Amino acid sequence: MKTTFDRWRRVLACTLGLGWQVMGAADAPSAEDASARLRQLRAEIAHHDELYFKKAAPEISDAAYDALKRELRALEQRFPQLAARDLSDGGDRTGAFATATHRRRMQGLGKTYTEAELRAFLAKTRRALGHEPVAFVLEPKYDGLAISVTYERGRLVRAVTRGNGLEGDDVTANFLALCDVPRQLAPGAPAPELIELRGEVFMTYAEFKRINAEIEAVGGERFAHPRNLAAGTLKQARPAASGRRLSVVFYGWGAVEPAARAPASQRDLHRLVRAWGLPGVDEARVVATEDEAWRAVAELGAQRARWPFPTDGVVIKVDDAAQREALGATDDLPRWAIAYKFVPAQAITRVRAITLQVGRTGVVTPVAEIEPVRLGGSTIRRVSLHNREEIARRDLRIGDAVTVERAGEIIPVIAGIDRTRRPPAAVPFVFPSACPSCGAVLSAEAGQAAVRCPNRACPGRLQRRLEHFASDDCANLDGFGPGVIEKLVARGWLREPADFFRLEEVPLAEVVGGKSAAKLRASAARARDRESWRLVLGLGVPGVGPGAAKALVRRFGDLEGVAGAAESDLLAGGRPRFEGLSEAAAKSLVAFLDEEGGRDTLRRLSAALVARR
Ligand code: IVH
Repeated sequence: MKTTFDRWRRVLACTLGLGWQVMGAADAPSAEDASARLRQLRAEIAHHDELYFKKAAPEISDAAYDALKRELRALEQRFPQLAARDLSDGGDRTGAFATATHRRRMQGLGKTYTEAELRAFLAKTRRALGHEPVAFVLEPKYDGLAISVTYERGRLVRAVTRGNGLEGDDVTANFLALCDVPRQLAPGAPAPELIELRGEVFMTYAEFKRINAEIEAVGGERFAHPRNLAAGTLKQARPAASGRRLSVVFYGWGAVEPAARAPASQRDLHRLVRAWGLPGVDEARVVATEDEAWRAVAELGAQRARWPFPTDGVVIKVDDAAQREALGATDDLPRWAIAYKFVPAQAITRVRAITLQVGRTGVVTPVAEIEPVRLGGSTIRRVSLHNREEIARRDLRIGDAVTVERAGEIIPVIAGIDRTRRPPAAVPFVFPSACPSCGAVLSAEAGQAAVRCPNRACPGRLQRRLEHFASDDCANLDGFGPGVIEKLVARGWLREPADFFRLEEVPLAEVVGGKSAAKLRASAARARDRESWRLVLGLGVPGVGPGAAKALVRRFGDLEGVAGAAESDLLAGGRPRFEGLSEAAAKSLVAFLDEEGGRDTLRRLSAALVARR
């Protein structure tokens, strides 16, 4: 069973482009091929690093990225003459923060993907320690960004990202604004003169969902993974204003002064972190043998779906600090710790078609319609492809065999394309120039990847606007799913939000049946009592999220009041006139009210709500 699993992982690795690493000697590449491939790999990795670290918007899965890195490392080992180590790499740095130097290097972790690899690491470690007793500590591998937080005489003085391991971004102010972490260590244990505490900044799934829902409510593009959102959030220009929260956990240490006060072991660190009132690892396990370690890895793997934070593996560390010292490090990887990475749920399937979905603001998103596959407990039929450029860059074609996985265990993405299984007739995808819903010529703004349908009366856009108005966070019109809305739009009964409250006047039962008609009317009756700000949110004005919607209703009293707001009530000298309303939200509201018929839409909604109270 175990070996079958290992073989399966290798097959997957192959489809992800790991080809050469698993080839036999007979297939060994020439130095010339290797040099070309190395160049290609470095360029590709640099491209993904840029997206990941600088833009916080990766396009490929971690597994696919790791596969590229592994192929690079394998080739570099095979052709040491071609391996140019590059330490000028800035890692996670964006250029927007001051540089801070780590007193002690922030090391990376070696990675394992199979039981055999993990057992080999543990056995080697025990051998290297002359078979003296070793305790290993297992911890979740938190999926966020590494941080080093320096406390001097118990007081927090600096928070720095990993950067290239030697120096990183000084993000102290942002870190303090976003994370609940005490500035002063609690007196539960004496504080050393100085300690660099190492840990991970991450975003909980709950916060991730909350923020994505808000982003979607204002017509933005959601984040695929909590890690990207955490990275983007930590590096924002005005973190406190964003209302976002990050979490932190401390799992290690760097420099300690005086050195004699350094933790004696990982368990000692856990104890100190707790005594100082800091967030620590609550899920740690201690084991002594390979068998125990593997069992614990499996148990943590089974528990992880219930953890409120994202993880992508387990970290296994030698507990005792003296043993760590004896083991040392190779390059920047310690010999006393390793990561075992969980392979995300993946499935291989085929792209049946590439279709376009029109959003309510007109943004057109390409979607891969795939042969349905089960993944992590549900069936996936459609995978968003983000934008036109991504299809062209990855050269995805209809008919391609693809590996689908859930990014951050949530949103499905295409992690790899198996070009060896491409049907001979498959041709590059030509992005349509017309809106699939209304036929209008699609437009693209210079320098932007997004393509739009410019037609405000586009039925596709109307459908999405109505779906948004009916959604749980807005009017909460239970029962009005996309199918029902589509039928009512086709009859001409639904043209704008107010129409949901005028359905008494139409023979609804003819279209949905008597029972459903009664339910829909009851649901519309309940929605009349929704808080006004939720109905304002339901209008889907770009930039107007829950905060702005609440501020508007607070300021103008009710829907009628918001409908009557003049530009001068919202903006003064180009700046928003009141708290809770951003400049972008105010401007887009002015455009909605004055240019898009928003005043009348709102007035009619208000009248329809009052009519039958
Ligand atoms: S220990 C020398 N413990 O994983 C050991 N790292 O892939 C250094 N990570 O850069 C790290 N959870 O950002 C350690 N429990 C944990 C971790 C952890 C997540 C991250 C960390 C590190 C990366 C290496």
